[in-house]
Amino acid sequence: MNKEEAKAAILSLSKEIDQHNYHYYVESNPQISDYDFDMLLTRLQQLELEHPEFAYDYSPTKRVGGDITKKFESVVHRFPMLSLTNTYSEEEIIDWETRLKKVTDEEINYVCELKYDGVAIGIRYENGILTRAVTRGDGTQGEEITANVRTIRSIPLKLKGNFPDDFEIRGEIFMPLASFNALNAEREEIGEQLFANPRNTASGTLKMQDSKVVAERNLDSYLYGVYGDDLSFDGQLSAVENAGSWGFKVPTKEKKFIERTTSIDGIMSFIHYWDKARHDLPFEIDGVVIKVDKYAQQRKLGFTAKSPRWAIAFKFKTERVETLLESVTFQVGRTGAITPVANLTPVQLGGTTVKRASLHNADQIEKIDLHLPDYVFVEKGGEIIPKIVGVNLEKRSEAAQVVGFLDHCPECHAALVRREGEVQHYCPNENGCPPQIKGKIEHFISRKAMNIDGLGAETVDLLFTKGLVHNAADLYALTYDQVIELDRMADRSADNLIQGIKNSTQVPFERVLFALGIRFVGETVAKKLARAMGSIDRIMHAKYDELIEVDEIGEKIAISVQQFFLDERNVEIIHRLKEAGLQLEIVKKETLSQKLEGKSFVVSGVFNAFSRDELKEVIESNGGKNVSSISAKTDYVIAGENMGPAKLKKATDLGIQILSEDEFIQLLK
Ligand code: IVH
Repeated sequence: MNKEEAKAAILSLSKEIDQHNYHYYVESNPQISDYDFDMLLTRLQQLELEHPEFAYDYSPTKRVGGDITKKFESVVHRFPMLSLTNTYSEEEIIDWETRLKKVTDEEINYVCELKYDGVAIGIRYENGILTRAVTRGDGTQGEEITANVRTIRSIPLKLKGNFPDDFEIRGEIFMPLASFNALNAEREEIGEQLFANPRNTASGTLKMQDSKVVAERNLDSYLYGVYGDDLSFDGQLSAVENAGSWGFKVPTKEKKFIERTTSIDGIMSFIHYWDKARHDLPFEIDGVVIKVDKYAQQRKLGFTAKSPRWAIAFKFKTERVETLLESVTFQVGRTGAITPVANLTPVQLGGTTVKRASLHNADQIEKIDLHLPDYVFVEKGGEIIPKIVGVNLEKRSEAAQVVGFLDHCPECHAALVRREGEVQHYCPNENGCPPQIKGKIEHFISRKAMNIDGLGAETVDLLFTKGLVHNAADLYALTYDQVIELDRMADRSADNLIQGIKNSTQVPFERVLFALGIRFVGETVAKKLARAMGSIDRIMHAKYDELIEVDEIGEKIAISVQQFFLDERNVEIIHRLKEAGLQLEIVKKETLSQKLEGKSFVVSGVFNAFSRDELKEVIESNGGKNVSSISAKTDYVIAGENMGPAKLKKATDLGIQILSEDEFIQLLK
């Protein structure tokens, strides 16, 4: 490929990928599978590697991050970033409207929008290319966080359509609830402190130095304001609609995220609608914003010192209920972390009955000065578990006692420790504390780890109580006769369990490493470590310096890995797992057969037994070839769930054989 051809290929691939990004992240309507998308991206990366002179800043390959910002530069805003007058009362909205009517006797159109609960951002585009992204800061100047903003997939790096040469777009960056809850679930799993709420998490994420981490956090955006000279539209609604046509994720009328009305009734019905419907949104809003539509009228109304007169925010009251704190109990997690839990008199909140709330840690209890009994206020944010936000002091009785923290583990009575710089108390009795032992085994067998069929928390509890299993290695010594003796264990279940354990010896090394439950070694870290070091023996004997050489492994993880292997008991478990035949090193991709030789496959959709990557590996290790898109040369399409209808049609039209996952497995046999 010559230079010109390479450049053309890079541009056309970039365009294609941008378009798929748009379908996926802006329209939530993907047109190709993740796998096919990855193949396009890999191809572009390869071309850019070969021709770095065409690796533009706005290439979609830049979405994965990598740029490090040591210090965020301070930037003065070209147009100050003002705030909004907030109100919680409908009367004040009516008063606001009355005031506006005094300034103009023309008809006023109002644009009603959601008030996104995230971080305000101003992004500059010059000739359609994203050149700078700046936080609000104090309104006059903010911090330049361009490298981080580039990783947010719903924010275009290069615009399409008829955009102004030089303008700034403003909006909100936020963390969707699903990303927030997944991030916290992962943190809980590796024993890290949980994030408090999506907004603070989004804000903290945007200030991270390593844009790669930002790229992994799945932030999202809605843009709602265009600033520049000589704009070709005359009001807020058409600004938003225009921005949508340039490729931005903007609120749409279809979703009722934006609405234009001329009446106060229209404004009120927007407010009432979203006060209820907000609970079903996939992200948090804290109110709605009402703006005068026409720029000419906005100019006439002008500004106060801090905020425009032409806009007002109506904030929703967070639903808060009061109930009695009946007791505080303490839970011990698999890492030994002690979590205080408030047991409450059941109460209705946001459509569900709340009986328990997490108190997080000792600092939290102290901060709200919790007594027992107390009447407490409970709120529900984006988190799954509701939280106690305060105490009704007026109802506190004289006899109420301060809620203290424990000195000893509620389960095994070991003295608790609180390491320097950590908020959590821990039970250090890792190998003698029942919930820790059971928790570790439960983690070991969980779906993303060893994925042992036929074994769940209940059976682990039975096996532990009967003294049959004390650690992961004991599982592999279990016999059918031992298992069938357990309460309510049927013949078939016992068989399944033993077979499930046996099958797990084929689980690849990276998952075994994750299953071991080494503190701070989550799924991603396990993958990196496994691939970099190759075997458990190398990891076990690795020097600190070797460990931190590995991508994404820092001081904290390296120390934790070393500590794990300093414990003789862990080393002993590893030896026994090795004897049981578990995969404790990376298996070189060996050729298993040549059954699929000369055949090309397209894998599309979601599967049951395999992940897409695993399917691809199976194809290759049996001599087949993976290709990214369907053409007349494709021999087979393996179709999973959710395979796009367009693709299915193409395959059918070309007369290509379409296989289900099971049919593919048959083919191999
Ligand atoms: S307009 C001059 N529209 O609220 C008016 N702001 O209190 C500029 N916000 O810093 C803001 N959703 O972070 C506007 N639809 C929306 C909004 C919105 C959320 C935030 C924004 C701003 C703050 C103002």
